[in-house]
Amino acid sequence: MQINTVQTSAFGDQKPGTSGLRKKVKVFQHPHYLENFVQSIFDTLIEKEGMPTDATLAVGGDGRYYNRHAIQTIIQMAAANGFARVIVGQAGILSTPAVSHIIRKYKTFGGMILSASHNQGGVDGDFGIKYNISNGGPAPEKITDEVFAKSKVITAYKIADLAEIDVDTLGETSFNGGKFTVQVINAVQDYADLMQSLFDFSAIKNLLASGFQIKFDAMHAVTGPYAQEIFINRLGAPAHSLMNCVPSEDFGGGHPDPNLTYAEDLVKIMFAGDKAPDFGAASDGDGDRNMILGKNFFVTPSDSLAVLAANATLVPAYAKGIAGVARSMPTSGAVDRVAAKLNIPCYETPTGWKFFGNLMDAGKVTLCGEESFGTSSNHVREKDGLWAVLFWLNVLAQKNTEKTKASVEQILKSHWLEYGRNVYSRHDFEAIPTEAANIVMAHIKAQFESLPNQTFGSYTVKTCDDFSYHDSIDGSISNNQGVRILFVDGSRIVFRLSGSGTEGATLRIYLEAFEPDSAKQSVDAQVALAEMIQIALKISQLKEKTGRDTPTVIT
Ligand code: G1P
Ligand code: ZN
Repeated sequence: MQINTVQTSAFGDQKPGTSGLRKKVKVFQHPHYLENFVQSIFDTLIEKEGMPTDATLAVGGDGRYYNRHAIQTIIQMAAANGFARVIVGQAGILSTPAVSHIIRKYKTFGGMILSASHNQGGVDGDFGIKYNISNGGPAPEKITDEVFAKSKVITAYKIADLAEIDVDTLGETSFNGGKFTVQVINAVQDYADLMQSLFDFSAIKNLLASGFQIKFDAMHAVTGPYAQEIFINRLGAPAHSLMNCVPSEDFGGGHPDPNLTYAEDLVKIMFAGDKAPDFGAASDGDGDRNMILGKNFFVTPSDSLAVLAANATLVPAYAKGIAGVARSMPTSGAVDRVAAKLNIPCYETPTGWKFFGNLMDAGKVTLCGEESFGTSSNHVREKDGLWAVLFWLNVLAQKNTEKTKASVEQILKSHWLEYGRNVYSRHDFEAIPTEAANIVMAHIKAQFESLPNQTFGSYTVKTCDDFSYHDSIDGSISNNQGVRILFVDGSRIVFRLSGSGTEGATLRIYLEAFEPDSAKQSVDAQVALAEMIQIALKISQLKEKTGRDTPTVIT
């Protein structure tokens, strides 16, 4: 096995964002671009993270365009940089939670996930790479900061001269007298086994056999084969329960983002009146997000997390109770109310799954979630779309017996009755010129001193700040994690710039108001939050500074 050292020069823009490095495919196709970033990761692992000489790397992606090419390059570079083994998903495909599971199950040193998550794919779409550490979770900032630093000064990378690996055929291929091995595995079985070990599959099977109709939309992305194995083969759902379950390199031309805007085909089916199925769900490009729908009913991700926490003991894996919960700062406080009632801790972390890992490793939390359609538990160290869907089905199976019936909508309404409703919405303004977006954020921050005690219509500002997080486990501090305007009555507006886009800036405005009065809890969120939306526009001067006052996506 010949190892070549290739001279290169740094790019300067390889800063990992909220979830790895994401760029247009065309950017990744620049000569050396992919290699520079991969070498910067390996150099960080070798120099700073004590990578052993017999290390194994797990590799897989969401099947988007450039996945296959990148996998061959990563295998060749892993061989040249001292890894002893690479475990790769068949056809190069592994969902993000499946990679997390494989890292943990096979005790690999780390893993690389090739995905730009819910961003569009194809030749003109996005590509991305994320490194996960040995606990199965996304690399923390101390690693991603070092990778960025190395990428800015890189001068060479190492790559082995290997013939192309057949990643479509299961099995092992060894090189260099057995010193380097590539193992192609079927990850669907491992993942499905894990799910079966957590949930009551026979109860869910009975629910589906009783005529309870479900519809799952894989959005032409990675969960298709997993859904086929779990819902059809193991749970006996009829074939028409699945849609868009064949992964495609450009996700059928759509955005593989499970929300009311981009999963519109599923939304139409689920809001078709009486003939709508009882339960609907979708997941994203790499299978870590989920959207939950009932018959003519949408469950916000923040509410979903709260309902799962409140009903966790109905699920075998959590029957003994949960240790604690965590949510990202912009996620609504609905789960906080459940935690208070259960008398367990609730942690508030910055946006991005990487902040949950330490808390889970320390046994402080069992369930975590983000408003951005992410929910999961300590069974892996990533968010997990199908896990959330199965959790809901397990809860529904327990609440729909011969004697009792409960729809998704009824479960939510009785949850609100018990805990009150955190009315919630997020408005995204995509593709704003970066400079204009920075001006808007600076304008809001400049009002930190003048805003407190000011009254806007029925809302009075209590405090405002730029969220900082102190990680109680490793002591690290993360600043500038989103601007919060907190009102006297507990409502809040959060402004944050996205760290996962590839075009201009995306401004996210998160709106939340608490409604304890059951008579008002069924009001549409956009109606209930209308006044706060106007206040957000006023404080930010969004229209004046960007010409925009209509969000591109509302979730
Ligand atoms: C977005 C979500 C965030 C999520 C991330 C990766 O990041 O808001 O919650 O963890 O995608 O899926 P953002 O673009 O807001 O930085
Ligand atoms: Zn994703």
